[in-house]
Amino acid sequence: MTTSLDFPRYGDKTNSPFFEEFLHKLLENRDQIGLSELIRQIDALMITVEPGHSVPYVGELCLMTPYHYLVTLESESHFTHILRIDMAAPDILVREVKNARTQGIFRSLNEVYPIGAHKPNSRYMGEIFRVRNVHDVVELQKSRDVRFFNQDQIRKLELPGNMAVVKPSPYTHNIVGYWERPEYDIRVYSLGWSTIREDVQAAYLDAKEAQERLKLNTLLLPIDHLATRIYSQNREAAILEWLTLSSYYYWGSYDITSQNSSTNVTKSIHYPNELECPAKVFTAANHPYFVNHLTRLPSPTEQFVRNFGPRLHHLAVAVNDGETGQVANIDYVVDTLKGCGKQFLLEVIGSREEGLKQIFSSASEYSSLIVEYVQRFGDFQGFFTRDNVAELTHAAGVEESLKALEQEVVV
Ligand SMILES: [Fe+2]
Repeated sequence: MTTSLDFPRYGDKTNSPFFEEFLHKLLENRDQIGLSELIRQIDALMITVEPGHSVPYVGELCLMTPYHYLVTLESESHFTHILRIDMAAPDILVREVKNARTQGIFRSLNEVYPIGAHKPNSRYMGEIFRVRNVHDVVELQKSRDVRFFNQDQIRKLELPGNMAVVKPSPYTHNIVGYWERPEYDIRVYSLGWSTIREDVQAAYLDAKEAQERLKLNTLLLPIDHLATRIYSQNREAAILEWLTLSSYYYWGSYDITSQNSSTNVTKSIHYPNELECPAKVFTAANHPYFVNHLTRLPSPTEQFVRNFGPRLHHLAVAVNDGETGQVANIDYVVDTLKGCGKQFLLEVIGSREEGLKQIFSSASEYSSLIVEYVQRFGDFQGFFTRDNVAELTHAAGVEESLKALEQEVVV
């Protein structure tokens, strides 16, 4: 049996005694009551976009990632497009609201933030875990004070009926869902009427034709990690809450002092390969915004959270190790995508000697999410280099759309 406390600790950031005490207690308890074994891999990620945005967004994702369009589930007020690589990597569910005035809890989470409110229906919602027994998981989680939407609420939210869904986290605003699926069964979502939409299929085929022509299709791998930005004071609570809801362990935290930020990594206890079950990363400022004028440090992470709300900031796509035309695959991928009109926030950073290269795309105009590309060289196991993270954090802070919108916000 896997023990959640058996993993080595990385990083250099010091946590509070509260964090260390309850990290130990929570993981020990989670193992003892069987939850760590019951909760398996992330089976799906859910993203909602504004009316009219899902078709181009599916096209964008199918060009920039290895995902394929499978089917659309139509319900009363949403279209939900199912994207899949294969059964070894999580699906992406792209939901589009039919009516821009759709009200609900997810919209409310956007509306109180100045830039988040610009696309009120658009947000990354969270992850669905495959579990061995959904009834047992729900009962155990309820006994630990976790709150769930009831069946009527799930029906009204038009989420798949075969899921138990935890209410949004006060720290990340994301949801976590659980569903039962025997490991070798295909994923089937109980929601609405299933169709293959011609417009989505056309966007998908265009993207895949381009990927093949540009020789990107063999270079792009599944999602490596998901990075959520949170308020500085919520760093420890958000990590511990995620460990309460999942079967992940705490890998460690790195202090990125120059950017007044830390990067905090958690990974699945069951799937050492991130491409089968992505790592979850939390980024938080070291100091809250109101001491910026005293510390005189940049504060890109807290600034993002104040503008958009706590939410997913980027999803990182792995790039096959190797070279194409004498450049590292990641350089080839980025140059090729630039040729297709895709923009990036900085140049590719890192090196073979450091073990990995990384880059951030510009934020999607549909989901506001950034795509990170990451290529690891040889047998490099590390998650990042401190210099890379400092540069990426800085670049994300000067993101074009953010700057433009801030002009409006400050007024
Ligand atoms: Fe990242």
